[in-house]
Amino acid sequence: MTNKAMPKVGMGLWKIAQEDCAQAVYDAIKVGYRHLDSACDYGNEKQVGEGIKAAIDDGLCTRGDLWITSKLWNTYHAQEHVQPALEKTLEDLGLEYLNLYLIHFPIAQTFVPFDTRYPPEWFADPDAAEPKMEFSGVPLSETWAAMEATVEAGLTKNIGVCNYNTGLLMDLMSYSKIKPFALQIESHPYLTQERLIRQAQNFGLEVTAFSPLGALSYLELDMAGQSESVLEQAVVKKAAERLGKTPAQVVLRWNVQRGCSIIPKSSKIERLQQNLALFDFELNEQEMADISALNSNRRFNDPGDFCEAAFNTFCPIYD
Ligand code: A2P
Repeated sequence: MTNKAMPKVGMGLWKIAQEDCAQAVYDAIKVGYRHLDSACDYGNEKQVGEGIKAAIDDGLCTRGDLWITSKLWNTYHAQEHVQPALEKTLEDLGLEYLNLYLIHFPIAQTFVPFDTRYPPEWFADPDAAEPKMEFSGVPLSETWAAMEATVEAGLTKNIGVCNYNTGLLMDLMSYSKIKPFALQIESHPYLTQERLIRQAQNFGLEVTAFSPLGALSYLELDMAGQSESVLEQAVVKKAAERLGKTPAQVVLRWNVQRGCSIIPKSSKIERLQQNLALFDFELNEQEMADISALNSNRRFNDPGDFCEAAFNTFCPIYD
């Protein structure tokens, strides 16, 4: 059911402000991006849709040239909410189908109707005296069956998951009738996730690394410090010098070269171009090994940390 190949480099749309988003998407398509990584939770799908429409209207590409991914939010895990959530995403994006629809987190939260709040984000009721997250107890197998039904309904070509660990993936493989196409996980030189990637690839999944530049995405959220930048690592700088590329290109190339697709985000056109230009050079074996050796299992996007800090709720999923 794949229909077309997923381009190895996509543009990540998390944290792109609504007012900048349509132009950013248009610019990305203009400089050659054909893969966009969207989500209900990013709160900018209408603007993503505007950017796509402008690009198609201007003849930069056709819908068929694009690979569009989006994600099911935690509050829509119940069987009866999955298809309406996808239909809402499609309406916002101005599309008839997605190339890939992913379960965003293996966390099922209490349903929030669209007209109460959209996107619902993490709190069950942000206006409560002490707002908290609330869990709905919907099994992931129920959500997956509803995801399968959206493929059968022609609303998405492929389905997959994000933020699953090896155990959840093994379980999913046991009950899925339509197999997951992709696993999307945080991965960069500080969090190489070799065993999870190997298992997913053994199961035949495409693995997409989010936050491929490591700490950089988390600086603006105060979830990482500048000193943690992987671009400052000597082995990265040395390879960049040898190849005449930027440290960011080296780090992104490392991920692609080990078989992952990546979805770096940038709000600057030169960086967007740079992040796409990864296919005219190669890291040698030593450089690949040296960069992999930077691994310190440092996870920046961990619900076990941020849900407690920001949403008053203990919610570990990786332990
Ligand atoms: P900006 O949007 O200002 O370009 P990730 O894709 O891993 O989530 O990282 C995104 C972060 O990395 C953003 O802060 C982005 O900043 C920055 N970034 C993206 N591309 C590059 C690049 N080529 N060189 C340096 N920083 C980059």
